[in-house]
Amino acid sequence: MPLDPLRDAHGRLISDLRVSVTDRCNFRCQYCMPAEGLPWLDRSQVLSFEEIERLVRLFARLGVTDVRLTGGEPLVRRDFPKLVGMLARIDGLEDLSLTTNGYLLERDAGALVAAGIGRVNVSIDSLQRDRFFQMTRRDSLPQVLRGLDALARHPEVHPIKVNAVAMRGFTEEEAIPFAEFARSTAFQVRFIEFMPLDADREWTPDAVLTGDELRRIIDSVHPLEERPRDPHATARVFRFRDGHGEIGFVNPVSEPFCDDCNRIRLTAEGKLRTCLFSIRETDLREPLRTGASDDELERIVREAVWRKELKHRVNEPGFTPPPRSMSAIGG
Ligand code: 5AD
Ligand code: SF4
Repeated sequence: MPLDPLRDAHGRLISDLRVSVTDRCNFRCQYCMPAEGLPWLDRSQVLSFEEIERLVRLFARLGVTDVRLTGGEPLVRRDFPKLVGMLARIDGLEDLSLTTNGYLLERDAGALVAAGIGRVNVSIDSLQRDRFFQMTRRDSLPQVLRGLDALARHPEVHPIKVNAVAMRGFTEEEAIPFAEFARSTAFQVRFIEFMPLDADREWTPDAVLTGDELRRIIDSVHPLEERPRDPHATARVFRFRDGHGEIGFVNPVSEPFCDDCNRIRLTAEGKLRTCLFSIRETDLREPLRTGASDDELERIVREAVWRKELKHRVNEPGFTPPPRSMSAIGG
């Protein structure tokens, strides 16, 4: 039986849950991880598939309709498609999606589709092999593009998005190649402003290449017009005026969309986070493992969600980045 929907003290309804299934990753992207990696969680600290399933089932009863699986890199978790299959069967979930770096997609695309994945985002920061290597510290662009093609052979997965993190001094050169990629393929390209979630703490306001700057670069070569925005969409989407496709900009730094935020996150070790930039987290693993009932878990979740942060303070003086970086939070 569905329960009262989850809401916070600012009147926002929560319907979107991001679940990180592992903190591990086979890439070392500049904007996320240090070159040497991070200390990984112990296997025993990470939620089991059954624990994730139980929590997602509870969240679905509390009004969550959209679940996105993230990492780290979700596909490095053993038998990951099996988890997709378990979650795909949960009543009330309308949308089950995945964010991946694409490295293992060539191997897993078929199994993921068979298990019921609906939509997939693949992170690609450059379409040039040497620049891809520079950003991810892995020479894997050909492998990732093969994965993207393997996925594209399954029309059930729609849309397939390509996400590029926009960093000043790097992404300017990527704007036109990605625009041309968006115009000539069925993939939807999105630029995401660089956020202060890098483990190396190299982020500065100036290192953010804004969506507006990228839009202007593209518009001068391929004129754009904005499409009406979908409710809760984080991206501003523009179509090419000549009718050849579209391109989007996710601008969390220059145009925060916190007022509309309907998201919460679950980390790989079972902490509930109500904002990407949360300082405070709520542990769900301990109650899960010590036999809490669904009613008890529900009470813990409602209380945490009620205190969801009004907005992020990235643009305010004295902003402190969260102690965890992106791979440990879950994109
Ligand atoms: N800023 C913006 N996006 C980031 N991602 C990882 N770290 C950052 C950051 N510091 C993105 C990845 C991927 C998703 C999981 O999050 O590129 O698309
Ligand atoms: Fe791995 Fe994603 Fe972080 Fe890159 S951004 S290091 S692919 S978790």
